[in-house]
Amino acid sequence: MIEIDNVVAGYSAEIDILRGMTLQAQRAEIVTLLGPNGCGKSTLLKTIAGFLLPRRGRIALQGEDVSQIPVHRKIRHGGLGFVPQTDNVFSALSVRENLLVGGHFLTAAACTKRIDELATLYPVLARKMDLRAASLSGGERQILALARALMPRPSILLLDEPSAGLSPKVLHEVFDAIVQVRDQEGVTILMVEQNAMEALRISDRAYVLAMGAVALTGAAGELMRDERVRELYLGGRTH
Ligand SMILES: Nc1ncnc2c1ncn2[C@@H]1O[C@H](COP(=O)(O)OP(=O)(O)OP(=O)(O)O)[C@@H](O)[C@H]1O
Ligand SMILES: [Mg+2]
Repeated sequence: MIEIDNVVAGYSAEIDILRGMTLQAQRAEIVTLLGPNGCGKSTLLKTIAGFLLPRRGRIALQGEDVSQIPVHRKIRHGGLGFVPQTDNVFSALSVRENLLVGGHFLTAAACTKRIDELATLYPVLARKMDLRAASLSGGERQILALARALMPRPSILLLDEPSAGLSPKVLHEVFDAIVQVRDQEGVTILMVEQNAMEALRISDRAYVLAMGAVALTGAAGELMRDERVRELYLGGRTH
């Protein structure tokens, strides 16, 4: 479970990028963050992960206040997985080596077991286990980035634009992989997406952000029908 309460954060002392952000995500829920370029979506994920520490407000993961805990400690102890917007696999390493990096804090035996589980969950990775990540397609890379973040069995997963640059068919494969994580491992997923309607289709709830705060929130199905969301993302009515 993720609880964000009135969080203020920024990269320099003078400028607040998050200006009182409040939102929640429950266990086994996919929650999507929508909003224009530069509104603070990636900054929010980086703040939850602990790359940035909030100036004010509270961040709780699984009921525990982690507002001032830096990223490496959250990933190690807090059961947090983070897939950043860019550069999310090591191209020069094989698929297996990428997964081993994700399992850095596990014992060798636990790593082997988890790689087997993830290979079963994502057969596309099983077929390419010893190939360099550089040779994967865009969609395969996204699935590898997801699997790497899942290595330590996080209870919370932060995904920054997992479908960026993918064709509609591959986008569906990546989204199916995300749904499997929620359904099979009960992971709480907070996902930033530009493909709003496709993302809402697999989400339970969503938040529309504007200028560092929540502008609109609701069940995913409701937001898909909301005229304001349609205006923003589909250029008006579609029927
Ligand atoms: N490392 C950084 N240092 C300073 N300012 C930053 C940094 N990263 C982002 N910003 C600024 O913070 C604001 C929010 O950026 P952020 O990356 O969170 O937006 P976003 O909503 O994820 O946008 P996009 O949809 O383009 O990915 C922008 O004005 C951006 O210029
Ligand atoms: Mg971003």
